[in-house]
Amino acid sequence: MFVKLLIIFFFSLLSQSLTSSSQVLGFTYNGFRRPPANISIQGISTVTAKGFLKLTDKTMVSTGHAFYTKPIRFKDSPNDTVSSFSTTFVFGIYSQIPIVSGHGMAFVIAPNPDLRFSWASQYLGLFNSMNNGNDSNHVLAVEFDTIQNPEFNDTNNNHVGININSLNSVNSSPAGYWNENDQFQNLTLISRKRMQVWVDYDGLTHKIDVTMAPFAEDKPRKPLVSIVRDLSSVLLQDMFVGFSAATAYVLSEHLVFGWSFQVKGKKAPPLDLSKLPKFPKVGPTRVLRFYKSGMPLIALLLIPLLLIISLVFLVRFIVRRKRKFAEELEDWETEFGKNRLRFKDLYYATKGFKDKNLLGSGGFGRVYRGIMPITKKDIAVKRVSNESRQGLKEFVAEIVSIGRMSHRNLVPLLGYCRRRDELLLVYDYMPNGSLEKYLHNSPEVTLDWKQRFKIIQGVASGLFYLHEEWEQVVIHRDVKASNILLDAELNGRLGDFGLARLCDHGSNPQTTRVVGTWGYLAPDHVRTGRATTATDVFAFGVLLLEVACGRHPIEIENESGETALLVDWVFGFLVEGNILDAKDPNLGSEYDQKEIEMVLKLGLLCSHSDPHSRPTMRHVLHYLRGDVTLPDFSPLDLRGNEMMLGIHHGFSESGMFTSGSSIAYSILSGGR
Ligand SMILES: Nc1ncnc2c1ncn2[C@@H]1O[C@H](COP(=O)(O)OP(=O)(O)OP(=O)(O)O)[C@@H](O)[C@H]1O
Ligand SMILES: *[C@@H]1O[C@H](CO)[C@@H](O)[C@H](O)[C@H]1NC(C)=O
Ligand SMILES: *[C@@H]1O[C@H](CO)[C@@H](O)[C@H](O)[C@H]1NC(C)=O
Ligand SMILES: *[C@@H]1O[C@H](CO)[C@@H](O)[C@H](O)[C@H]1NC(C)=O
Ligand SMILES: *[C@@H]1O[C@H](CO)[C@@H](O)[C@H](O)[C@H]1NC(C)=O
Ligand SMILES: *[C@@H]1O[C@H](CO)[C@@H](O)[C@H](O)[C@H]1NC(C)=O
Ligand SMILES: [Mg+2]
Repeated sequence: MFVKLLIIFFFSLLSQSLTSSSQVLGFTYNGFRRPPANISIQGISTVTAKGFLKLTDKTMVSTGHAFYTKPIRFKDSPNDTVSSFSTTFVFGIYSQIPIVSGHGMAFVIAPNPDLRFSWASQYLGLFNSMNNGNDSNHVLAVEFDTIQNPEFNDTNNNHVGININSLNSVNSSPAGYWNENDQFQNLTLISRKRMQVWVDYDGLTHKIDVTMAPFAEDKPRKPLVSIVRDLSSVLLQDMFVGFSAATAYVLSEHLVFGWSFQVKGKKAPPLDLSKLPKFPKVGPTRVLRFYKSGMPLIALLLIPLLLIISLVFLVRFIVRRKRKFAEELEDWETEFGKNRLRFKDLYYATKGFKDKNLLGSGGFGRVYRGIMPITKKDIAVKRVSNESRQGLKEFVAEIVSIGRMSHRNLVPLLGYCRRRDELLLVYDYMPNGSLEKYLHNSPEVTLDWKQRFKIIQGVASGLFYLHEEWEQVVIHRDVKASNILLDAELNGRLGDFGLARLCDHGSNPQTTRVVGTWGYLAPDHVRTGRATTATDVFAFGVLLLEVACGRHPIEIENESGETALLVDWVFGFLVEGNILDAKDPNLGSEYDQKEIEMVLKLGLLCSHSDPHSRPTMRHVLHYLRGDVTLPDFSPLDLRGNEMMLGIHHGFSESGMFTSGSSIAYSILSGGR
């Protein structure tokens, strides 16, 4: 037992002598190395590759500590007074926002390097709300506080204070220094500049001086903050020295660039300033640059708000656009995939269906001019609104199949697009517009006979193709001057073929609709409601007369609104035997009398009120080409007893003539 005690005593003596012999009196760090030598770090502290001690990084509401690993002996014996000591260090604070930072840092002498139970924010990683102000803390700190906390009687948000066991400073001062002329110079702790601090304690006078100066300037003669206090009751025999810092919600880095310490008498070893690491160059963020250019804080806060608002608007815009250009492709449309065009393309092609691009409007809808985005092809887009979705499939199928037709006297159909209750048909753009504008209302440009005859021949050839040359019989149903379009070489091309069918599909089977344009409508068509190739021939006949005479199919004769049919009017000349007088006076002098006469007569023949008496398009083409001469006929051949029935006159007197555009009206058939 005794031996055991003796051994323990011996070893304790040995260890004591060992510790005292290796007692550290001072050290110098001109920058720090990785891994840190004799420095223990805790919390969010690190030593950076650049060689400085980063007490806090950009973590919010956290603490960081760095202590010299070995204890420093401040008293020779526990009951002795505290020896003189001295320390100097270079520090700097980088705050992401240049005008606020949080919360500050402190040089600390503590009995224990473990300050884990200390709090962040205004507690600076030194104390917590329970032990703040308790004398059993045995902590001396020199704080560099960047936030004014009234509960700790802080003077401002940029002060240096000497603290004993508490966050309430024993004495403090705004950060700064006294220059040689004893003038006070402010220093800003968060100025992102390096600053040097000296803390000296005189063991005899019990005076603690804290002095600071800008980096690389001599130590000022007059200290910034001083207190006289015997630290014997505060410091224990062995204490740890180091730094503490804490952050709150503003991202702040508290940095130490160099540090030296000395206990017992002598001053702390001077730092070799040239060896210290530089303040890290952190390029100001864009927001900061704004701020520096003199923008007030309000603007700084408004910028993110505006960003959010604009983001919301952007999302709304994208969603709306998506909805606007949504393609509704139904199963049955896949087989027409090639012909189906994207609404978005058509939208951009026509510049959003602007009025500026409007070519005209007719019975089915409006026609817009456009240029396809990629191919740069000139197009005309016809926007047809169809109220009934029934039968649309058949209609689209028909239009697409018709669109496969290719003939030099048809306006090429490039494709279609369907959207909600709209159908868009895309045609080749015809640079010379419709034939109508060259014939009526004292046109600026008129066509001479040769041009007109060529157009007539072209249209006849196109109509013949529809009637007989295509794999199935296609009835145009709406042959008229505005549906004859002129291409660059002034060839007549038929447009809008088959469109009149749209009114057929989906309508009440009890009613048959008559579709066409007044003046071009064959009497048998009106009577039976059925369109045939012969009704197309009738309309073509009216067109022939229109081209030759330059008159509307139906003209208002006098002020009382009485109307006269062109067919009747020409027929009058035929009866009088001077049919050539019916020709257009704007025709000029260069024309072939025989051709005009033939065309006028052919026009009358085609618009015969009896469908069986009308020639077919095959015949018409022969006559127009001169392969077969038109058989001579008398007025009586044209109008036998129908003349007496007055079918034509019945028309013109009915007063139903309203516009030159397509009409659709229903004749009730059957029991209704
Ligand atoms: N492919 C095209 N190229 C150039 N202009 C065109 C084209 N298609 C139509 N237009 C122009 O658009 C105008 C309107 O055409 P739209 O077919 O809508 O009316 P309409 O022919 O007068 O009557 P309907 O509805 O009976 O066809 C036409 O007068 C014509 O000048
Ligand atoms: C760390 O401590 C040891 C032992 O006290 C000493 O030899 C060494 O120089 C110290 N290193 C530094 C960088 O102070
Ligand atoms: C230190 O002082 C206390 C009372 O103040 C006393 O009890 C103790 O014995 C002293 N210790 C030494 C080593 O002098
Ligand atoms: C001070 O701390 C000690 C030890 O932690 C504790 O016993 C004591 O009650 C505290 N004093 C006050 C006033 O809180
Ligand atoms: C804070 O300062 C006020 C007046 O300056 C003083 O009355 C109060 O006691 C001080 N509080 C502390 C905790 O020092
Ligand atoms: C120092 O700062 C105080 C307040 O922060 C101000 O009143 C004073 O004018 C400043 N002095 C100098 C020299 O900038
Ligand atoms: Mg048309």
